[in-house]
Amino acid sequence: MKLSIRKLLVFVLLISLLAACGTSEQGKTDAAAKDGSDKKVLKMATSADFPPFESRNPNGEFEGFDIDLANLIADELGYKLKIEDMKFEGLIGSLQADRVDMVMAGMSATKDRRKNVAFSNAYNRSGEMFISQPDNKIDDLASLKGKTVGVQLGTIQEEGAKKLSEEYGFEVKKVDDSKILIQELNSNRIDVAYMDKTVAVGYIEAQGLAGFDDPTTSSPGMGIAFPKDSDLVDDVNKVLEKLEENGKLQELKEKWLSDYQEIDS
Ligand code: ARG
Repeated sequence: MKLSIRKLLVFVLLISLLAACGTSEQGKTDAAAKDGSDKKVLKMATSADFPPFESRNPNGEFEGFDIDLANLIADELGYKLKIEDMKFEGLIGSLQADRVDMVMAGMSATKDRRKNVAFSNAYNRSGEMFISQPDNKIDDLASLKGKTVGVQLGTIQEEGAKKLSEEYGFEVKKVDDSKILIQELNSNRIDVAYMDKTVAVGYIEAQGLAGFDDPTTSSPGMGIAFPKDSDLVDDVNKVLEKLEENGKLQELKEKWLSDYQEIDS
């Protein structure tokens, strides 16, 4: 009999532990509980391989234009931001499966993607660039002939390179991480990397690479992506308008994006 009382006590203890875990999952994360806030959590996914939009600093913390903007948006709407890092090609799927509330990843708001997710108004625009080692003298589309051009899986550059490769006669190599793309370039496993201009310019400056603009590019602006039926789209658009009016969006562009372009639509 003694034994079963002890068992009962253990059982009760276990149940209360489980219950405690349950509460911390329903809305109040441990972090939120610790800092005393009872804000709702806004789950954002990104692919932190894309400076100056999103990357991790040496301490592993997220940083970049998208990260600052996401924090401003979460603040305005009274949420606590929680960031999840994943491969770029998995981002749309995570929205479709409702695993996250929004995605900010320098993602261009293309017609194709709009079939599966909703986008906020565009918050930035960037063209495309081909970058390479300066002594290779790759400076126009014709000089790509016979070369290997690397792109990140799931990006508009993957699509774009596929089309251009037929006309200009180059190989396309796909990798799932944009930092690895640069490593491939620096170790001569690819001749060229094809990527967003803002990101390319950063690498050209930091690593003494060369590059030329893609003259055929017509990519749409970058937007914040949401599950198709999300109520957040309108709220976030209102915040974007406000940040545009009070100059905070401009401040962020000046802080992070050296080559930012005005958006007229
Ligand atoms: N702008 C391009 C696209 O939307 C590339 C974005 C890549 N972003 C990233 N975080 N790796 O397809």
